[in-house]
Amino acid sequence: MATITFPKDFRFGVSTASYQIEGAYNEDGRGMSIWDTYSRIPGRVLNGDNGDTACDSYHRMDEDIALLKELGVNTYRFSIAWPRIFPNGRGEVNQKGLDHYHQFVDKLIENGIEPLCTIYHWDLPQSLQDEGGWKNRQTIEAFVEYSDLLFREFSGKIKSWLTINEPWCVSFLGYFVGEQAPGEKDLQTSLDVAHHLLLAHGRAVKRFKELGIPGEIGFAPNVTWYEPFSNQPEDVEACKRISAWFMEWFLDPVFKGSYPQILVDWFEKKGAKVNIQEGDMEIISQPIDILGINFYTGTVSRYKEGNGTFDCEHLDGLFDKTDIGFTIYADAFYKVLVDIKNKYGDVPIYITENGATYNQDPVDGRVMDDKRIKYLKQHLTQISRALSSGVNLKGYCVWSLMDNYEWSYGYSMRFGLVHVDYHTLKRTKKDSYFWYKKLNQNHWFEL
Ligand code: BGC
Repeated sequence: MATITFPKDFRFGVSTASYQIEGAYNEDGRGMSIWDTYSRIPGRVLNGDNGDTACDSYHRMDEDIALLKELGVNTYRFSIAWPRIFPNGRGEVNQKGLDHYHQFVDKLIENGIEPLCTIYHWDLPQSLQDEGGWKNRQTIEAFVEYSDLLFREFSGKIKSWLTINEPWCVSFLGYFVGEQAPGEKDLQTSLDVAHHLLLAHGRAVKRFKELGIPGEIGFAPNVTWYEPFSNQPEDVEACKRISAWFMEWFLDPVFKGSYPQILVDWFEKKGAKVNIQEGDMEIISQPIDILGINFYTGTVSRYKEGNGTFDCEHLDGLFDKTDIGFTIYADAFYKVLVDIKNKYGDVPIYITENGATYNQDPVDGRVMDDKRIKYLKQHLTQISRALSSGVNLKGYCVWSLMDNYEWSYGYSMRFGLVHVDYHTLKRTKKDSYFWYKKLNQNHWFEL
């Protein structure tokens, strides 16, 4: 039996996001978000589920913090709901919203848990969407106003910041594939949105540095690994294109100040281009202190003319899948991390999300989620491998602390270490919770 060991100062945590857990959608002055609107459009979200109540975490702060405390994590990655702070996106501040997060962050700190805060995890105020949302460059100004307020308010309390979660999902799932809010399907628009998100990120980083706020800041892109089925140049190229869509499209501008040419050319053939104004790339490529990486899946792919946007076909049948249908390819986690090191250098990395959906309910009060434990073991083994290969990894957060609102899948997909009964809101610790608790205590586990 092999033992996988982690450095003593390696940070272990769990992640959540405001819209997915908080509920209390119309309380204490919160404004509406695009997800409140989108989830109400018939047919957009499975079973018509919305985040009105979610896990009710807004009201269950003490219960949730007790779960974190017992789990023994030293880091909690959560997001702040923009519409609680600025109900109209900008302008008038909602003090009750700020008070809520002050209370929450104070309690985390009292319990020895470091907050790792995401500024934007998809709940854009609806009033900004009414003006065009991320299509409109003015939204960038609103984001800077919002970030600036958070930096000043929580200076000294929150020391680790992530500007934007998964800009790929916001831009491409939201504006090209059309599977997330606001559900549009236009390639050109998605490129504009991606560019504006990157600008919003860069402007917020710049402001953070100007204010001299103590701490570290970065963003949290999602990456996926596509491995060529063969060495044939067309398979290799097809994989390069699709990998670049997830990774280089967001990481190249931030680290290198340019978009990846392979995709610039490809999108041009599809009639779309990035609208770059003077000075944009300098803003986007502000140096960051930390990089968050969200990783779930990888696959083997090959060239197939006319297939999808990238002439690429995925051989997902080669892999086992989690209940949401994501292929399980743990080695790809190592490969992608080494690739990031080779391409972008040694910026400190936090794995800000990694986890698996297995939709089990408690039986006699117990959730025996062995498959989730197996997934976590496999992926943490790759983390340990990457650490040995010199990848500058600082921490790892499981997605998620508890089952929650899985966007267009509603409540049908369970990612949590803690089970949530959506009728009673009762929390039940799964076997994986106890397994992770032990890892937190020991900093090692047995395979
Ligand atoms: C997102 C989470 C989501 C998770 C599982 C990521 O795309 O940041 O909000 O729940 O993956 O799909």
